[in-house]
This record gives sequence, C-alpha cells and structure tokens, in this order.
Amino acid sequence: IRRGFSSSAVRNVVIKHVTIIGGGQMGAGIAQVAASTGHSVTLVDTNEDILKKAVKGIEGNLKRVVKKKFADKPEAGEEFIQKALQNVSTSTDAGSVVQGSDLVLEAIVENLKIKQDLFGGLDKLAPTHTIFASNTSSLPISDIASSTNRLDRFGGLHFFNPVPIMKLVEVIATSATSQETFDSLLNFSKKLGKTSVSCKDTPGFIVNRLLLPYIMEVIRMYERGDGSKEDIDIAMKLGCGWSAANPDNPVFAQSELLTKLVAEGKLGKKTGEGFYKYK
Ligand code: NAI
Repeated sequence: IRRGFSSSAVRNVVIKHVTIIGGGQMGAGIAQVAASTGHSVTLVDTNEDILKKAVKGIEGNLKRVVKKKFADKPEAGEEFIQKALQNVSTSTDAGSVVQGSDLVLEAIVENLKIKQDLFGGLDKLAPTHTIFASNTSSLPISDIASSTNRLDRFGGLHFFNPVPIMKLVEVIATSATSQETFDSLLNFSKKLGKTSVSCKDTPGFIVNRLLLPYIMEVIRMYERGDGSKEDIDIAMKLGCGWSAANPDNPVFAQSELLTKLVAEGKLGKKTGEGFYKYK
C-alpha cells in the first residue's frame, strides 16, 4: 500500500560491499549472514576487544551451522567457514572504511542522537551511491536520516534476533526513500536468504507494533492479579480466543475493516475469501 517514492540521485545499486556498524548481538549476526552469502563485510565497533569477540562469535556460529549443513562433507564445510571468514574484516574507524561501501548498515546503541551523529558524519565521507540503513527497532527512520543529505538513499533494514536463524527482514521506506534504494534493499535481503516485507516508517513497523501491545497486556493482566502467571499461560495455550465481555476495552474494539469483511461474507477460508483469496 505504498504511495509512491521520491526520486533518486542514483540508479539501482547492487549491494556487494557492506559496512556494518555495531558488532553486538545484531551487527555480528547480520555480518555472519552477509559474509556467508558472498558479500564483503567490514564490521565496525568502538574497540578491538569487542570486534575480536564478535568475529569469534561468528566463527563459533558458522561451525555450528556447518555441523548440520555439511554433516557428511566436512571438507566442504571447512571451506564454507573459511570463505565466510575471509569476507569479514574489522575496523574501529567507520569513516575510513565507508569509501568502498555500497551499504552502511547501523546496529549500534538505540539512541537517536548517537545514531544521527554517526550518520551525519559518514554522510560527508561515503560515496554518492552508498545507501544508508538502520536496524533500529523503535526510532523513526526519518528522524535518523534527517542528519544526512541523502534522504532518498536512506531506509530501514530491521532484522530479528538471532539473525542467522530468523527468516524475516522488515524493509522500511520513509516518505523520502527512493524506489531505487528500496529495491536495492529488497534485493539485498533476498541475497541474504531472508524473506522481506515492506513497511512504512511507523512505530514498531509491523512485527513489534503487533507484538508489543500483546506482551504488555499480558504483563498488566498479571500485575493486576487477574490471573496467576501459570493460569495465563495455560489459558493462552488451550483457549486462545476473544472475549465479548469487555466492550469498553479498546483492545477488543471493533475494527472497521473486519466488520466490512464479515458483512460481505468474506469469512476467510470457509467462504473462499477474507484478507486473502483462496482457490
Ligand atoms: P548490542 O548492545 O548488542 O550492540 C551494540 C554495539 O554497538 C555494541 O557492541 C557497541 O559497542 C556498539 N556501538 C555503540 N555505539 C557505537 C558507535 N558510535 N560506533 C560504533 N559502534 C558502536 O545491541 P543490539 O541488541 O545488537 O542492538 C543494536 C541495534 O539493533 C539497536 O538499534 C536495536 O534497537 C536494534 N535491534 C535489536 C534487536 C534485538 O533483539 N537485540 C532486534 C532488532 C533490532
């Protein structure tokens, strides 16, 4: 349901060289997947110790992957690990490595000012064609992008933890992201072997926007003493369904779209159409 993209200063960029900033939980995971799928990756963090730990973690994970995937071909497995590791280099100075990058993907601390400062500085150093992206879970991409002069080449790439295992990437376009940038990010996600969904730059994008209210409601329910934690778990496992007994609670409020679908007899699989059409 996108409403058009802004125009771009550059044509489609094929992403081959990637700078990943932040070698923590997410950055190291993304680096592992990108390196395993043939991209050259420079992983950046604030000090050598963190980077060493990140690369060690990647190596350990690759060994685990290989044990399963190459169980009967240990030599091919070892080659896979070596190839992937050769694709990873590290640096403590993002400014000096962005020159050769098609994509700068940030997975640092979740702080708007720090992310803005980072991208604002790199904007002056990176080549024109370089796409910038953030892995933020909760900050507006457009706010982070506002510190740069490449609004058309700025988007969100939201991965899930643990990155090598979780299949999904949310690809986020702001109102200023160009079609070319968005397509490049979609293609990159595909090359990583992920399934991507397109998201607008709204709080929580898709997954966390739906997941967080649910999680918070469970905690509040427990907090109010409406149920013991054991009973809440059992109830959700065995009887997940709606309650009509809470008409004033906005969580249970009617949805216009749902009411319309029901009125049209679009009840899902049993009538051949609901949110989807079934053959
Ligand atoms: P983390 O704390 O494991 O890693 C962050 C890394 O960034 C640290 O190694 C830190 O030293 C480094 N760092 C901080 N400031 C830096 C700077 N200015 N330059 C270079 N490196 C810097 O954090 P995590 O969990 O990997 O999260 C990173 C980002 O990914 C956050 O924006 C978070 O919202 C997002 N995210 C996290 C998910 C999760 O489940 N942990 C899921 C999806 C997104």
